[in-house]
Amino acid sequence: MKIFRNFIAGSWSEPSSGEHFENVNPADTTDVIGRFPLSNAADVDKAVASAKRGFEVWRNTPAPARGDTLRRVGDLMASRKDEIADLMTREMGKPLQETRGDVQEGIDTAYYAATEGRRLFGHTVPSELRAKWAMSFRRPIGVCGLVTPFNFPMAIPTWKMFPALLCGNAVIFKPAEDVPHTGTVLVEILLEAGLPPEVIQLLHGRGEVVGAAIVEHPEIPVISFTGSTETGRVVGEVCGRMHKRLSLEMGGKNAQIVLDDADLDLALDGVLWGAFGTAGQRCTATSRLILQRGIHDNFLGMLVDKARGLRLGDGRKKGTDVGPLIHESSRQKVEAYVDIGQAAGADLLCGGRRPEERALANGFFFEPTIFARVEPGSRLEQEEIFGPVLSVIRVSTPDEAFAVNNDVKYGLSSSVYTRDVNVAYRALVELDNGITYINAPTIGAEAHLPFGGVKQTGNGHREGGWEVYEFYSETKVGYIDFSGSLQRAQIDNYAGSPT
Ligand code: UN1
Repeated sequence: MKIFRNFIAGSWSEPSSGEHFENVNPADTTDVIGRFPLSNAADVDKAVASAKRGFEVWRNTPAPARGDTLRRVGDLMASRKDEIADLMTREMGKPLQETRGDVQEGIDTAYYAATEGRRLFGHTVPSELRAKWAMSFRRPIGVCGLVTPFNFPMAIPTWKMFPALLCGNAVIFKPAEDVPHTGTVLVEILLEAGLPPEVIQLLHGRGEVVGAAIVEHPEIPVISFTGSTETGRVVGEVCGRMHKRLSLEMGGKNAQIVLDDADLDLALDGVLWGAFGTAGQRCTATSRLILQRGIHDNFLGMLVDKARGLRLGDGRKKGTDVGPLIHESSRQKVEAYVDIGQAAGADLLCGGRRPEERALANGFFFEPTIFARVEPGSRLEQEEIFGPVLSVIRVSTPDEAFAVNNDVKYGLSSSVYTRDVNVAYRALVELDNGITYINAPTIGAEAHLPFGGVKQTGNGHREGGWEVYEFYSETKVGYIDFSGSLQRAQIDNYAGSPT
């Protein structure tokens, strides 16, 4: 069996525990992908000591040259796109077209980062004093600890890692234990592209052991975490206590709203992709469908018909629409919510169970599930399930739809299908989400725009786009006084004040 290693202090190495874990294919648990290190706090100590040396090299490399390295990373990812998609599907299950998209998102992020190496803008502004200049510029911070989830094994690590590196930081990367192979390939590519080895450290293992040790390490001043709201709360408490800079990206309960005037075929394609792509295991998954009364029955009929036709299967087989869940525990969580929905009186229209086909018996499959007559405020409608479960809510007006959308503790994405331009713009303004799509599903974020949510989805930071570069760098201000005399700000020579 293939044995994988950590990458610490410039070499591929065994964990100090000497222990490993096995990672299996969620579509077929008899397919063991390999054995991966179970790292602990001692490994984090070694990684930090090395990353601090890497930081000194990398921060002194000009930003355009750092960008050139990331451009080569993008080129290498592009040349290996199909191979990476295949190994990614093998370890986390989503169909090949989706894992190809995941790699592409990483490539896009690399090329965006490459060009940012020639920007990283600061500001030059007038001083209030004569013969004095004032400017801001950006400095790297240090060692960044990145803890990432299983559902976008390439895209999400690159969202964090490439901006962190472009800004001149060193990185300690802990991929989710379900996708360690993709994480390993990403690090191989960075090294092949010429990143100085001590700038990147890869640590495999359990979140509660090595992830926690990274978050708690006093010499890692920056933490970026994507995962559950519960874990994010703990990460936030630790980082708050230790005065760390923290970016959190957590849960969602995203809604697609379909109004009476919508193009129903378009809305149908949108909700199928949004709700059942990645088997619903996306922060941006459509888990609520809010239908206006006039089209409710008709649209629901169209939807159930199509959902029943989705093909469950191994994501590496042609014709598969929906892959497995990541774990047995995830499937049990989904089953628990099916029980919760039924007990609350919602109508189970399709799915709600494990498939019976023998060919699927070795995987964590679950049928696409739709509940109608879901009550706003009920647990099914409020809580993140992270599986292929869609809750349908009927409303009378666009105002009521907006209110239902907003009445959850999360606020990542939302979607509105309408032909009314006024309602579309109102949605952009009134929906409490970080991202709102008009006539498109709740997923589809692009690498060059800020990504993130309001309320308990995040903590105010954004990934992607230009904003993330502010997170991974510190603003420094410089004042240069070339007057040759003491000029006291707010007191001397203030041209605007009457003398
Ligand atoms: C996530 O759901 O965890 O727009 C990230 C999207 C993807 C990224 C989603 N590009 O849904």
